[in-house]
Amino acid sequence: MQKKCRIDEAMKRKYPEQVVLVTTRSAKGRENVMAVGWTCIVSGDPLMLALGIDDESYSYELIRATRRFVVAFPGERMSREVLFAGTRHGHKMDKLRESGLKVQKASVVSASLLADAVVNLECRLVDVYRPGDCPVVIGKVVAAHQNRDTRLKRLYTVGQNYAMGKVRSTILKKR
Ligand SMILES: Cc1cc2nc3c(=O)[nH]c(=O)nc-3n(C[C@H](O)[C@H](O)[C@H](O)COP(=O)(O)O)c2cc1C
Repeated sequence: MQKKCRIDEAMKRKYPEQVVLVTTRSAKGRENVMAVGWTCIVSGDPLMLALGIDDESYSYELIRATRRFVVAFPGERMSREVLFAGTRHGHKMDKLRESGLKVQKASVVSASLLADAVVNLECRLVDVYRPGDCPVVIGKVVAAHQNRDTRLKRLYTVGQNYAMGKVRSTILKKR
């Protein structure tokens, strides 16, 4: 049975919410990483993702400038790095280096892959919409990479104050 409640009260129960890390790299080679929870698939063929990315973030500036970015699904041991990337702005610091995240070279875009992520998706910016107070960035996936460890669990936000939990996909190849 349902009972009517305030919208903000209902939204406290949205968890688990997926979280991704978005990496970017400026034309001059400055790298950045941020955490994004507001994300979903908006096209299957070609694969496209939508990301709600705040106007104030350095990542938004870099995405608009370069039109390239990487979306990584964080692995189970990356909660500290997700919080680091999601609670500091990269305008004046090299967050990617200071987070200690291990990086790999991508194949199409200049932004880095995250070595310990479950999956990395290289994206090209398709468009930016503003349906409400947050820009919605649409990225077309142009290349994909997956962790060699197929049993690696993916990190989710499981509660308020960025509480993190891990989930393993049921569709797994035998090692
Ligand atoms: C778990 C988690 C989820 C987040 N989700 C979003 C989101 O969906 N959109 C957003 O703009 N910021 C989100 N943030 C906050 C940004 O990651 C944060 O503002 C970050 O400092 C922006 O970095 P930048 O300015 O270096 O790009 C989230 C943070 C955390 C920890």
